[in-house]
Amino acid sequence: MNDLTPTREQRTAALEGMGCKRKRVEDIRFTQGRGNYVDDLKLPGMLHGDFVRSPHPHARVKSINSEEALKVPGVLAVITAETLKTVNLAWMPTLAGDVQMVLADGKVLFQNQEVAFVVATDRYAADDGINKVVVEYEPLPVVIDPFKAMDADAPVLREDLAGKTAGAHGPRKHHNHIFEWSVGDKELTDAAFKKAEVTIKEMISYHRTHPSPLETCQCVCSFDKIKGELSIWGTFQAPHVIRTVVSLIAKLPEQKIHVISPDIGGGFGNKVGAYPGYICAAVASIVTGKPVKWVEDRIENLTATSFARDYHMTTEIAATKEGKVTGLRVHVLADHGAFDACADPSKWPAGFFNIVTGSYDFPVAALTVDGIYTNKAPGGVAYRCSFRVTEAAYCIERAMDILAQKLGMDPAELRLKNFIKQEQFPYHSALGWEYDSGDYHTAMKKMMESTNYAALRKEQAEKRAAFRRGETREIMGLGVSFFTEIVGAGPSKNCDILGIAMFDSCEIRMHPTGAGIARMGSKSQGQGHETTWAQIIATEIGIPADNIQVEEGNTDTAPYGLGTYGSRSTPVAGAAIAMAARKIKAKAQMIAAYKLEVHEDDLEFDIDGFRVKGLPEKYMSMKDICWAAYNSVPPGMEPGLEAVSYYDPPNMTYPFGAYLCVMDIDVDTGVYKVRRFYALDDCGTRINPMIIEGQVHGGLTEAFAIAMGQEIRYDDTGNVVTGSFMDFFMPTAVETPHWETDFTVTPSPHHPIGAKGVGESPNVGGVPAFSNAVNDAFSFLGSTHIQMPHDYWRNWRAAKELGAVA
Ligand code: CDP
Repeated sequence: MNDLTPTREQRTAALEGMGCKRKRVEDIRFTQGRGNYVDDLKLPGMLHGDFVRSPHPHARVKSINSEEALKVPGVLAVITAETLKTVNLAWMPTLAGDVQMVLADGKVLFQNQEVAFVVATDRYAADDGINKVVVEYEPLPVVIDPFKAMDADAPVLREDLAGKTAGAHGPRKHHNHIFEWSVGDKELTDAAFKKAEVTIKEMISYHRTHPSPLETCQCVCSFDKIKGELSIWGTFQAPHVIRTVVSLIAKLPEQKIHVISPDIGGGFGNKVGAYPGYICAAVASIVTGKPVKWVEDRIENLTATSFARDYHMTTEIAATKEGKVTGLRVHVLADHGAFDACADPSKWPAGFFNIVTGSYDFPVAALTVDGIYTNKAPGGVAYRCSFRVTEAAYCIERAMDILAQKLGMDPAELRLKNFIKQEQFPYHSALGWEYDSGDYHTAMKKMMESTNYAALRKEQAEKRAAFRRGETREIMGLGVSFFTEIVGAGPSKNCDILGIAMFDSCEIRMHPTGAGIARMGSKSQGQGHETTWAQIIATEIGIPADNIQVEEGNTDTAPYGLGTYGSRSTPVAGAAIAMAARKIKAKAQMIAAYKLEVHEDDLEFDIDGFRVKGLPEKYMSMKDICWAAYNSVPPGMEPGLEAVSYYDPPNMTYPFGAYLCVMDIDVDTGVYKVRRFYALDDCGTRINPMIIEGQVHGGLTEAFAIAMGQEIRYDDTGNVVTGSFMDFFMPTAVETPHWETDFTVTPSPHHPIGAKGVGESPNVGGVPAFSNAVNDAFSFLGSTHIQMPHDYWRNWRAAKELGAVA
């Protein structure tokens, strides 16, 4: 070894593998306007489609007249449900086992529902065309309030379900009822409540909101009549699933369908589902023989394609006087809108809401969810959330604060008293999950020390005294939140989408020069997969991350995968990468043994190659092994160096975190200031700390938006009153607080690299932290629970109702 021989540290650093703050490689094109999004695609002769939408939330469609529209220059066709019936596509199946109208068939069930699809030579002509389509409606009574949907005299929304006493998830008990889902031991839980020393009960609502990615949903469909092939470019978070669904519903052979998800400008769950725009663009292309583009505008996105939350959770906790929880009982009224189009794994009508016991050792629990129809848009997507986990975390984290208030205990102390202990992992929750690993006490204590929690509580007590003396009009709240996530859907034993197991996949091909390509079943929408997946390979096989190209989103080249949502990429696809890389490494070891003329077992892997044990100078780099794979492999071995892995995870992963929000609220104006926000996340092994930090910043910003104002609100007559960014709160850098991030590392014992997901954790943990801060601030004025969102006006109203404002 001379001075120029790189040290072990230098060799490790040169790989830019796991743990490295590698800069995002995709940002080179994104920051220079060189991204390639669906709307960038322009095909020769391409047509444009746009929707006529219903102004009514509930109405019978008496007639649709397209005569004048067809006279508009450039308008070529007006597609209605009648047109779609000729190809049996007027209705489509939903992921939740329901059916959904593609275009209004006899009636409309929510405002802005798709009624007709106008196809024209350009977007402007299509828009002129939709204004000329004459639709005659007969308005019907509307149900918007989920608590009134199951009244005996509530209007019948889904006439197509008349006489159906059961749906995909069991019996229906009312004409607007979808399903009842019960988990846990009701008898034991009721018994725990009977003998409880202390109980709390509160109806905790998580309002309807929307993921609203920067880029809306869109597609280009191009049918080649000669080859009988349909190519679809779209904003799909799960391109392979789209290919299978299109094959099943359009009865086209799957190999004749090519689905390509190019760069995607944010998904957050919005781009998981199948929407009428995709079906109409495909049918229009088949009918016209030309490519057809459909691009949603912002109002359409906010009001028609997917919503999130709308869960109304009556929550009860039983406890001892000392604050030890003894039982949890939750009933949820879940508003699914006009069709049950929730994007959940098929067997889970309320997603993974049964993670609602959270981070606490509840001996017994019982949960019932009633899904119902209302005159609102369908969707029910996991907005930066693993299938209703965000609702569950909000529910339990608010409830724990309410219990602390009733007991006169500090919310952090109450949590510490009830946490699942480190030695209890793997932990079996009362509602059926097996938590893989956790060290909650360490995380919570780190949060309390880092923020100087005790001093903040002291300051709060002083401020309260000053408020009472009339020396200040500001109240101070400390929002503690400790969440446990459940991500990595999922194990084939309990997760599938339309019968397809929720595995994920990776194919790695190493080239002779020591470079390679990894093709994935996952699909980034901005999470930085091109950067991080290469880092896993770099560490696993000792090839620099810069030498690995990552490709996602093309169903012709990528192995079948279930896509990216619910922070499943790292737990599932990330594991597939490690497993494929290990197959490469195993073959590389055989090649190295042959070249170094030793037995395989005499070799050890050393950062970027194999070394003979005890003879450090006998070494072959992975780069050289790649070359050898193409010219001098052992006799009988196939040349080449590539591997595929389809990974079926044995369990979910359970990331967790401890958050604290410090907030001041002026009671006279309701104006709040987030003074401090500290977020400690534990996502197991950290692949790229800088990307994790970015993910946490983004998720916290969304959590801030949701808790403090972002809402899809309807008036009593069913009009959406928050249908644009003028009314739907979208924070900019001006409103967004400063984020302090921190971490602990508790690896997942079953994941090949010990990693858990992280992307949605800050949304899951952030919302309760903000809401608890507001509620904590108002609690000393006598309030128990104030519903979100906590915008200025609602804060002022709360202060007034509590008598703090004259
Ligand atoms: O499924 P999705 O990509 O949205 O979520 P994720 O699995 O939480 O990953 C989000 C991003 O964070 C990816 O680029 C991951 O590689 C990265 N990540 C990481 O660096 N370390 C982890 N332990 C988890 C995620």
